[in-house]
Amino acid sequence: MNITYNEKNRLFKLDTPGTSYCIGVVDEENFLGHVYYGRRLLDDQLTYLLRTQEAPFVPTENNRDRCSFLDSFPMEYTGSGLGDYREGTLAVRTTEGHTGVSLSYVSHRIYDGKEALAGMPAAFGSKESCKTLEITCEDSILHLQVILSYSIFADTDAIARSVRIVNGGSEEIFLTKVLSACIDMDNEDYEMITLNGSWARERVIQVSPVRKGKQSVGSVRGESSHQEHPFIAWKSPTTTEETGDIYAMNFVYSGNFLAQIEENQFGSIRAMMGIHPENFCWKLMPGESFQAPEVICLYSAEGIGGMTRNFHDLYRNHLIRGIYKDKKRPILINNWEATYFNFNTEKLLEIARQASGLGIEMLVMDDGWFGHREDDNTSLGDWQVNETKLEGGLKHLVEEVNKLGMKFGIWFEPEMISPDSDLYRQHPDWAIQIPGRVGSLSRNQYVLDLTRKEVRDHVYDMVAAVLHSANIEYVKWDMNRQLSDLGSYGLPADRQGELLHRQVLAVYEMQDRLTKEFPNLLLENCSGGGARFDPGMLYYSPQIWCSDDTDAVERLSIQAGTAMIYPLSTMGAHVSDCPNHTVGRTTPFETRGYVALAGTFGYELDVTKIPQEDRDSIPGQVAMYHKYNDLVREGDYYRIAHYAENHFFDCYEVVAKDKSEALVTYIQVLGRANCHSRRIRIPGLAPDKIYVVENAADWPELKQTEYGGDALHYAGIQVPPLAGDFRGRLLHLVAR
Ligand code: GLA
Repeated sequence: MNITYNEKNRLFKLDTPGTSYCIGVVDEENFLGHVYYGRRLLDDQLTYLLRTQEAPFVPTENNRDRCSFLDSFPMEYTGSGLGDYREGTLAVRTTEGHTGVSLSYVSHRIYDGKEALAGMPAAFGSKESCKTLEITCEDSILHLQVILSYSIFADTDAIARSVRIVNGGSEEIFLTKVLSACIDMDNEDYEMITLNGSWARERVIQVSPVRKGKQSVGSVRGESSHQEHPFIAWKSPTTTEETGDIYAMNFVYSGNFLAQIEENQFGSIRAMMGIHPENFCWKLMPGESFQAPEVICLYSAEGIGGMTRNFHDLYRNHLIRGIYKDKKRPILINNWEATYFNFNTEKLLEIARQASGLGIEMLVMDDGWFGHREDDNTSLGDWQVNETKLEGGLKHLVEEVNKLGMKFGIWFEPEMISPDSDLYRQHPDWAIQIPGRVGSLSRNQYVLDLTRKEVRDHVYDMVAAVLHSANIEYVKWDMNRQLSDLGSYGLPADRQGELLHRQVLAVYEMQDRLTKEFPNLLLENCSGGGARFDPGMLYYSPQIWCSDDTDAVERLSIQAGTAMIYPLSTMGAHVSDCPNHTVGRTTPFETRGYVALAGTFGYELDVTKIPQEDRDSIPGQVAMYHKYNDLVREGDYYRIAHYAENHFFDCYEVVAKDKSEALVTYIQVLGRANCHSRRIRIPGLAPDKIYVVENAADWPELKQTEYGGDALHYAGIQVPPLAGDFRGRLLHLVAR
């Protein structure tokens, strides 16, 4: 890992373990150009790549062609309004109503370590494990400074980029767009990967060709969303899981975003990512600065899998925090699908008694314990225990659960307010709404205006009071509606465009307070399932509920899309009852266990009501979790086959970092008539080691139980057809 500046060539070079990223300063006007991103290079004589000799050029000597220059030069971070007609990353409006902005290099600094981003999540690292380059650019007419920050890490190929804008002038200026990163490069027939979905169908992998014009994903919903994900990758058409070029961007942010690739008239692409400009306008007073959130950029020559494993390492080592960061999580049982709103102390204790006897370690009480919430039409904001339901109070319930040797966890939805709540009756202006307009309801609730300090302090205090009242060791922080009716009673007219970003900052501030005041708490974020599964949230909670769809088959694709970026240790995954509550499918209990094993693992069912046979298999599943979770949490993840592509089976693997063992999960989604065994290649192992099938008893069909690591990878094993649909098996390989 190194960052250099070659004064002669005016070239910055950032070297991660396997990649180089180069930025050049050109012309008397000191434009900052993107030179190269790809495999690591020794050479730093690369400014020729900027095509500064190709017509039309030379804005200084030939101002006649300035527009043409700006419209084709590979800008490192762009202004707007002065001749670059591609989408720009920064846009402003002055008090006179003017919009042009142009950036030139002024100075830079290179330092060990990485500074935190004020009030925002960001990757971190020690002075030994990372280095940072800060480049200051300026628009000398506007007196606006733009500080571009790039951090690299000794142990992964990621580059963390962010942007800070400083108003050095004497008048306020309105920032109408501040994206966080941009990469201009030549298109090489790239294909774009995005993760799209819906409620209960989050993060389905989509691949489409990059074509002329703009193609984007984004959210204007006030959260990262079920529908589109703050991630894009672009890859060569020949890139596979194991080989080939791939570039990616992932946004460390939980609100509105735009992620876009635009191919221009000359076949160059501009990839960009940042806060969505729709409904964004930030008033920056003289002397003030605006910090845009961080984007993680990544290049891998080792295919999609190489990208994935770099993201996993970065997030495990440089983003996730807290005492559970590297720890096995307690196996929980959540009562949502077990009881929905229909529970009381006795019902919860009945579940806990059975569960504790089976080895389950924590009871989580979900929605419905407060106010008079018997359904989802009421009481959000009234975070007082409903003692008619929880007879004897919360403390009593928690003590009884603790006596069974179990931990206790609880559900909150702190960002919301029901019209039918004491809080709304007292403070109707605390909801986000446009004065004079009846607010649009979603799940019969409004969003609290957390941009107001008194509102977030009030809600935080209510949550904290509940947590102090009993021995609560886990919180599920939910957020069940997206934002609309953007209006705040707390912001002046010329700051209403700040609402969405301020709301996200407020959530970060509240979760920061929570994790500091309750450092031993296990926090799990959630948003109508997995609508806010993003790196921003992972900075505060080591795990996030992945989807409300708990069906084992649907989960294969939801978890594959999620694990394309996020470590398995972060994916909330539970075994639930069948027929599945979302899709009505019945799958074997065993298969549900295998699929949940790829995440945090827990249960979401009424253990007192499921078939005896299923109940009897829970201790075995608990043992399976304890046996494999260290490997699943810490290992390298490989996708082997994806049932969404082949329609019949799914297969993935986790390999220990030291290659001493691997766990392969194989799920035959649909049985097929008259077929041979299926060849599965198992990558990632040490080619010179012999691996033994440790659970050979589960594989009576295998002719052989010892294989070379190279044979497993390049020749593979043959998996026999399993009788029936939705059947699964684990293959545990241990180096001899
Ligand atoms: C969301 C969550 C569920 C559950 C319900 C409760 O949908 O994703 O797991 O907590 O809210 O209302």
